[in-house]
Parts: sequence; C-alpha cells; structure tokens
Amino acid sequence: MEKDAIVDRIKSLKKEKNAVILVHNYQRPEIYEIADFIGDSLELSRKAAETKADIIVFCGVRFMAETAKILSPEKTVLLPDKDAGCQMANMVTADDVRRLKSENPKIPVVSYVNTTAEVKAESDICCTSANAVKIVESLNSESVIFVPDINLGSYVQQMTGKNIILAHGFCYAHMHIFPDMITGLKKHHPEAVVIAHPECRKDVRDMADEILSTGGMIKFAKESPANEFIIATESGMVERLKREIPYKTFYPVESSVCINMKKITLEKVLGSLENEQYRIEIEENVQKKAYAALMKMLNL
Ligand code: 13P
Ligand code: SF4
Repeated sequence: MEKDAIVDRIKSLKKEKNAVILVHNYQRPEIYEIADFIGDSLELSRKAAETKADIIVFCGVRFMAETAKILSPEKTVLLPDKDAGCQMANMVTADDVRRLKSENPKIPVVSYVNTTAEVKAESDICCTSANAVKIVESLNSESVIFVPDINLGSYVQQMTGKNIILAHGFCYAHMHIFPDMITGLKKHHPEAVVIAHPECRKDVRDMADEILSTGGMIKFAKESPANEFIIATESGMVERLKREIPYKTFYPVESSVCINMKKITLEKVLGSLENEQYRIEIEENVQKKAYAALMKMLNL
C-alpha cells in the first residue's frame, strides 16, 4: 500500500475504534503525521492518564505503553511492535531493586519511568528526565535509591547534593555520545548552543550549555535568542525540533540511534489498529503498586 493510503486507513480506523495515537519525540517523522499527541515521557504519561479513548496505540517503547496501561487498566493499550523494548529498562530487574532495598533499609526508591512495571511496583515514586531533580528534592530523605540510569542518577546527585545510591543501567544511544563528537560539531558550528539529555555521560553533560528532557529541548530552543543548536541525544530528536521550529538550525550526533524506537513503522501501526495487537497486559497486583508510584509523581 502507498504511504498516503496507509495514513488515510490509520486515520479512519482511529475514528472508528475510538483510538488515540501517542507518539514519542524519537519516533520516525512519518509517525508524527498520524499522532494525536507527540511528546516526551512526562507529557505522554499525562496524556495517557487523561484520554477518554477506548484504545491507546503507543508509538514508543514498551515501558511507555506499560505506563499507559498502568494508568488506564480498563483501556486497551497497544504497542505496534512487540519487540520495541528499552534496553536500559531491561538492565535493572525487580530482584535488583529488592536487593538494593534490603542492603539499604528505609531508603526511598525513585524509579525513572524507563523501567518495567515490576520495577515501578517496587518503587516509592517514579520520575522522568524532566522532573527527576524535583522529585528527589521533594523527598524527606538525604539518601535515595535511584534506578536504573547511572547517568541521570549522577546528574540528580550533582543537582540535589543528596546521597544517591545507583544501580547499573544506562542507555547505549546516549552512552555512546563522546566529548570529541561534541568538540567536532562545535568546531564547525562555533555559535551553536549545546543541549544535552541527562542520560548522557558526565563528561558530555559538562560540555553542555543546557541539560534538558526532550520536551524541555523544544521549549528552550523556541524561547532562546540563539539560532543554532547541537543536540546531544537520540538523533531523531532533531526531526521533531525541525518540525516545531523550522526557522532555526539543529545539528544531531548522527551515531546516536535508538533502534527500538525506530522499530515502529506506519505499516505496523496499521496492523496494530486492524488486529488490536500487541496488547499490553499487567498483573493486577503489580499494576496497583506501580499506579501508586506513578500517581505520586503526577500529583507532584
Ligand atoms: P524523555 O523523557 O526526555 O522523553 O526521554 C525518554 C527517553 O527514553 C530518553 O532516552
Ligand atoms: Fe531506552 Fe535509550 Fe531508547 Fe530511550 S533512547 S528508549 S533510554 S534505549
């Protein structure tokens, strides 16, 4: 089928089935075209909690679709590719969190939303890259267990001055952005403002003018008087920035690609709506506990 025909069919099925399509910023540009909403993890979890649709199709990775299901257990939540997982989320298991808790009794657990539902269920509160510092600051404890990302965790430590007990997760797409790549881009574009995602390594964060979530990058680039930006995050983010702010220039770190985000295609979204696949199911007990941790975050 031609691209336009697939898009038309997706749009009519969406209406027919009262479905909503949520799309993460790192998705392919053609997926933006069928989105009801495009955003970062925090914005998408808010939308997932609010929507009145019967079906949520999540164009992102598994933890994002799971978050939608945890917040709306009565809804059908679909992930168009069953193998679109987040490698970082899979690095730290619920057993790892239980071990950290038994080694550090009475210390609250903050889990980044890039975790499985089981890990969220073991946590006191969730956070996203947009609100991690605020969430940790809000806790009445000088020590905090933070899972899974060592980079976001070390950034939180730097910003809050708290004792952050780290796990061992990281994002390969961000971990492989190195300082010499930023230096190279800076050499060619000396006027460009450097914006880095907090999942980047500390030596890269130290070179950045701003450290922001993907949603924060759009807001900042729109409001900034600067016209050129080096974007140290998954390279697809630059497509989103170009779409929102076409009159400014954005330089990606080309080698930073999340292969799982890119597994979602228009054909798979159509297949997902037609066959109502792949359904996200979460065990009730896990859903209830994970819901409490997510709602604590959303209520803050
Ligand atoms: P954001 O919360 O900034 O959208 O980031 C999610 C993510 O997976 C980054 O790799
Ligand atoms: Fe996970 Fe990294 Fe992909 Fe984000 S970019 S979804 S953290 S693997």
